[in-house]
Amino acid sequence: MPESITITDNRTGDAIEIPILNDGISATEWSKLLPGIWFYDPGFMATAACESAISLLDGDVGILRYRGYPIEQLAENSTFLEVAYLLLHGELPNESEFEAWQLDITYHTFIHENVRKRFLEGFHYDAHPMGMLVSAVAALSTFYLDAKEIFNRDSRQKQITRLIAKMPTLAAAAHRFSVGMPFVYPDNSLDFASNFLSMMWKVAEPRFEADPVLVHALDVLFILHADHEQNCSTTAMRVVGSSHADPYSATAAAAAALYGPRHGGANEQVIKMLMEIGHIDNVPAFIEEVKGGGGRLQGFGHRVYKSYDPRATIIKRTADEVFGVTGKNPLLDIALKLEEIALQDEYFLSRKLYPNVDFYSGLIYQAMGFPLEMFPVLFAIPRTVGWLAHWQEMLDQDSKIARPRQLYIGPDARDYVPIAGR
Ligand code: ACO
Repeated sequence: MPESITITDNRTGDAIEIPILNDGISATEWSKLLPGIWFYDPGFMATAACESAISLLDGDVGILRYRGYPIEQLAENSTFLEVAYLLLHGELPNESEFEAWQLDITYHTFIHENVRKRFLEGFHYDAHPMGMLVSAVAALSTFYLDAKEIFNRDSRQKQITRLIAKMPTLAAAAHRFSVGMPFVYPDNSLDFASNFLSMMWKVAEPRFEADPVLVHALDVLFILHADHEQNCSTTAMRVVGSSHADPYSATAAAAAALYGPRHGGANEQVIKMLMEIGHIDNVPAFIEEVKGGGGRLQGFGHRVYKSYDPRATIIKRTADEVFGVTGKNPLLDIALKLEEIALQDEYFLSRKLYPNVDFYSGLIYQAMGFPLEMFPVLFAIPRTVGWLAHWQEMLDQDSKIARPRQLYIGPDARDYVPIAGR
């Protein structure tokens, strides 16, 4: 059987055969038959905007792979920095490549003093750390003027290293400012996750020693959040990057997209929902309310996963390890009950609504002491790697500037009426 489709224009009887390649058909071919007729696809529900070799997601069977490696194997055996290298370079590093990469990231963790003193400290005292992060990342472009040289390989690599290395520093600085604590400089003797925890929590001790279980849990969470193909924020990165803006400006746009409650803000919403439910006995009534149209079950459902999100399974295991150190998050019982009821309920089953990565991640972050406002920030740190991998891939593909069409539904041409005559 031919791997193709045939489209017929019933107005003229003209037809065109279009090959199916990599599970897609070319819209350019389609347009040859129908010039001026556009695909109407709000939310890009059925549109592939690019070819990509970075991550694979099969939502029907709950598969996620980075560069071919199953997420379960990476979470079990790898580290966040190794995964970052894999996403950016396409292959796992050998020992010397990894050593060089780790050293590079470690020695780019410091931020310019002006970013902290003049820029971050200029925010209002109760500024949301994600708002601070978005602005600070954009501001970095004014510190690294070579960032505009996006087709210079060395410059591109330098900005990628800087962004990955400085993200935790900016994130922790935003938190410290929002709670009135002094900034903690990076400790380059620590690994990626330990250094971040040190910048978050260090008080007067000469060296902050994070609990290894919590360091490992955070590293696993970073791996799980590092990439997720063409999600909303990655699409923002590619769209802004397609105009050949510098990577700091494009990353700021991606981080802004991540800020919303339908995307990176979802785990914050989960905790708020669990607190609102308040007690395990209130769960059935809450589920009924959701089914009646009174809001959504936060942390449930996904545009692509129509079965259990594989990241949610790993996170559930990680949660048990974390609670072994921090004590159980009192909201866990409510979450488990919600999941139990929802997974037996026709409403959720028929719509293929399962827990997503955010259903449990917030419980872990909260148990580790992170305030709710930091949740999207904790997502942005690892996702920076995915954004940059896609940005780099897009530039190498010599892509077009992103510029969709529209179906115009406004008024027909009409003449201007002076204000006195309206
Ligand atoms: N609770 C209750 N009902 C839901 C939920 C939910 N969480 N999600 C979807 N539905 C229902 C919708 O009401 C709709 O029902 P209908 O057909 O009777 O109208 C049906 O399921 C399909 O929903 P859509 O909104 O069309 O699905 P879409 O793919 O556009 O949305 C989304 C995906 C935004 C993630 C949605 O499931 C949602 O809002 N979930 C809660 C927020 C959340 O957890 N976001 C995190 C996503 S993961 C991430 O970004 C890391």
